[in-house]
Amino acid sequence: MSLPVIGTGRLELRPVASGDLDAITEQIGEFAVARMLSVVPHPYTLQDAQGWFEQSWVRQADGARNLAIDNGSGLIGVVSVGRPSETPNFGYWLGKAFWGRGYMSEAGRAALGWLFTATETQTVVSGALDENPASLKVLSKLGFENAGPYTLAIRSRGEDLPATRMKLARTAFLSAAGEAA
Ligand SMILES: CC(C)(COP(=O)(O)OP(=O)(O)OC[C@H]1O[C@@H](n2cnc3c(N)ncnc32)[C@H](O)[C@@H]1OP(=O)(O)O)[C@@H](O)C(=O)NCCC(=O)NCCS
Repeated sequence: MSLPVIGTGRLELRPVASGDLDAITEQIGEFAVARMLSVVPHPYTLQDAQGWFEQSWVRQADGARNLAIDNGSGLIGVVSVGRPSETPNFGYWLGKAFWGRGYMSEAGRAALGWLFTATETQTVVSGALDENPASLKVLSKLGFENAGPYTLAIRSRGEDLPATRMKLARTAFLSAAGEAA
């Protein structure tokens, strides 16, 4: 299935392109971003970004569905609705300069709206460190519910840290979206 281009009002979601890799390296290379993400190394190099990008393309059919979040000046973050599976994983980050403006809630709502209308997905899972209230707030604004504690291994810190697993049912998302419309 090809990935969509979605306008959200302030942002455009589109497939990540090779021309985005410098912006990804610079933004995810900030420790403030990497420290909240599980598999991202720090320092982060252009080679890391290339490896990540190539892996998404090589594995096309079952690759992670990663969308660039573009504010018109270029990539400011990435939102992923995971690999096609019974319970895909929802993940995301924004460059630090773009935090605190409601962008991730806007981008996340659009990405999940696409997932639930273009596919038969019934449940999406996600999770965030307990020390990341902004991320937990984004998930709860999108309709995710607490699915219990777990431990998240954070590569950039070499630590296993307490986190909260979150779960979103298709019906909950679609009824919340209907109410908001
Ligand atoms: C988490 C992240 C994506 C949030 O993006 P964002 O665009 O700033 O998020 P939004 O503005 O849409 O929503 C954040 C919400 O959290 C709230 N918030 C922010 N900091 C908070 C804090 N310290 N305590 C409680 N709430 C907080 C905001 O007020 C906002 O809620 P509101 O809309 O009701 O006011 C961004 O900070 C980021 O990329 N962080 C680094 C990577 C990361 O953590 N990724 C997720 C891994 S699970």
